[in-house]
Amino acid sequence: MSEQIAHTQPVLAVRNLSKIYQDSALEVAVLQGIDLDINPGERVAIVGASGAGKSSLLQIMAGLDKPTEGEVWLAGKCFSAMGERPRGFWRNKHLGFVYQAHHLLPEFSALTNVAMPLLIRREPRAQAEQKAAELLAAVGLANRATHRPGELSGGERQRVAIARALVTRPSVVLADEPTGNLDTKTSDAVFALLMELNEQTGAAVVLVTHDMNLAGRMERTLTIADGRIE
Ligand SMILES: Nc1ncnc2c1ncn2[C@@H]1O[C@H](COP(=O)(O)OP(=O)(O)O)[C@@H](O)[C@H]1O
Ligand SMILES: [Mg+2]
Repeated sequence: MSEQIAHTQPVLAVRNLSKIYQDSALEVAVLQGIDLDINPGERVAIVGASGAGKSSLLQIMAGLDKPTEGEVWLAGKCFSAMGERPRGFWRNKHLGFVYQAHHLLPEFSALTNVAMPLLIRREPRAQAEQKAAELLAAVGLANRATHRPGELSGGERQRVAIARALVTRPSVVLADEPTGNLDTKTSDAVFALLMELNEQTGAAVVLVTHDMNLAGRMERTLTIADGRIE
């Protein structure tokens, strides 16, 4: 019974979330009273005009920014109320993030970049690199392990970024326009990879995209407009 309850609990929940940016005298209310549940293994698209607040929402959901009001619950804990260090720990344990620009560390190899979240949580290097090698193979880049980001194509860099987001086996992956800088063919391949890893690992995927074609291939599409989810 308790297992059943645990199973139906959302992996990520947003409650009455508002975000107001304060620029000197000017207040910009970007998000207003957002409520949102992401269930285990679910595939959700978030769409909306440029400036609608999609990135703001994702950053707050990832605990990378604080809401002005409201709560974010991740894996059963009120994430947004935690201090910086426990929040970082909880994020590392349960959440993967893929940015529009890959945000890989230029001085490190693809393998070390993918292993980084595990090294941060102090896993032994050999074990971290073993897991990183498995993920690099899963994204089709086993033969690029020693390459630095500058030696990879845009699509390859995004695949490394996806491997890095999934190496910790997170319960949810947030991706902010991960295919936004890619051509259509590469974008399709990166999207297919995300969907494949969603099936293999059971990680829920929240994808911000401009591409209505990609959004249409998710289970659910949420539209942000005027600070709210329509
Ligand atoms: N750090 C910030 N300070 C002030 N305003 C911001 C900040 N970040 C974003 N904004 C503003 O909030 C709005 C939403 O931005 P964003 O979340 O990036 O939208 P989207 O990702 O949907 O394009 C925009 O008007 C943007 O200018
Ligand atoms: Mg954005």
